[in-house]
Amino acid sequence: MAKKLYIPGPVEVSLDVMEAMRAPMVGHRMKEYAQVHQRVTEALQTMLNTSDPVFLSTSSAFGVMEGAVRNLVQKRCANFANGAFSKKWHDVTLRCGLQADLHSAEWGQPITAAMVDKALATGKYDAMTLVHNETSTGVMSPLEEIAAVMEKYPAVSFIVDTVSSMSAVSLDVAALGTDVCLAGVQKAFGLPPGLAVFAASRKALDKARTTPNRGYYFDFEEFEKNDLKHNTPSTPCISLIYALDHQLQKFAAEGLENRYARHRAMAERTRSWIEEQGFGLFAAEGCRSLTLTCGKNDARTDLETLKKLAAERDYAIDNGYGKIKNQTFRIPHMADMTMEDLDELFTLLEELLPQARS
Ligand SMILES: Cc1ncc(COP(=O)(O)O)c(C=O)c1O
Repeated sequence: MAKKLYIPGPVEVSLDVMEAMRAPMVGHRMKEYAQVHQRVTEALQTMLNTSDPVFLSTSSAFGVMEGAVRNLVQKRCANFANGAFSKKWHDVTLRCGLQADLHSAEWGQPITAAMVDKALATGKYDAMTLVHNETSTGVMSPLEEIAAVMEKYPAVSFIVDTVSSMSAVSLDVAALGTDVCLAGVQKAFGLPPGLAVFAASRKALDKARTTPNRGYYFDFEEFEKNDLKHNTPSTPCISLIYALDHQLQKFAAEGLENRYARHRAMAERTRSWIEEQGFGLFAAEGCRSLTLTCGKNDARTDLETLKKLAAERDYAIDNGYGKIKNQTFRIPHMADMTMEDLDELFTLLEELLPQARS
């Protein structure tokens, strides 16, 4: 039997979403595709409050993360890192043969506006990368404060990973002034993996055209040229785009503000439950994620055993990521999840915890 997913991505996918993927196939150069593409990209523009294009990339998020640095780093990139995914982005930037420096905060702490200001004031950089919501640690950095600092550095491309926050929290791209704001759909969007979306600013698109060696698959100029015809540079994952179309209509029916409030309420409930069980919260106060909560293990719980016991009951749970595996665990509260789903998980864990504790 399939396990019910309580991991922070890929998340559990609703049956109606899977059903939407069964719509008949069309060719991506047919007008039927262009209609869906236009509807989806316009809905994303509305959700992100931008009149600049939002592109659809048939890749996971790291494709666009790599593409963004290849298109936008001409001089040197500042990679801000406070967890596994943000740190990996530095590695990816270097692997692309680009000049880059890592600016780190402790895991569990946010990237602050002051840190960004200090690094960029050196004048060394023409691009920076930031992960808004570090899925490895459950930290949500203060994007609006960082965006306010970025106004001082208009020549520095502002590249933001909102992989596990886009669609769950309000992201006003026009007000933030991001040059790239990207996400994969297997997190807060509640879709199967394989598609990434990204909003690119006019400034970023103009700069990208002057950047050498940006390859083909993630060339922003190719995305723009094709998007003007409601199309993609190469064959897209059409079934996933049907599912995104369906999901965006569901977001509208729920109401975005209600959706954001649902995530906030689930985050608050999860934090309380974790503390009631005697665990701590890994992320520092004031920067705790609204889409997943990272609990700090106590000295008496064997998280591997807990995970195994949950698996025997057909539930997939998380026991931490990267260097904090087993010292922490993450509970997602995003996408189509409801308070009832959380209660189901908490009931199960309350039953299993005594067997995993010494
Ligand atoms: C914040 C963040 N960035 C990037 C990624 C990488 O995404 P993908 O595996 O879709 O390339 C993840 C995946 O969990 C993530 O959580």
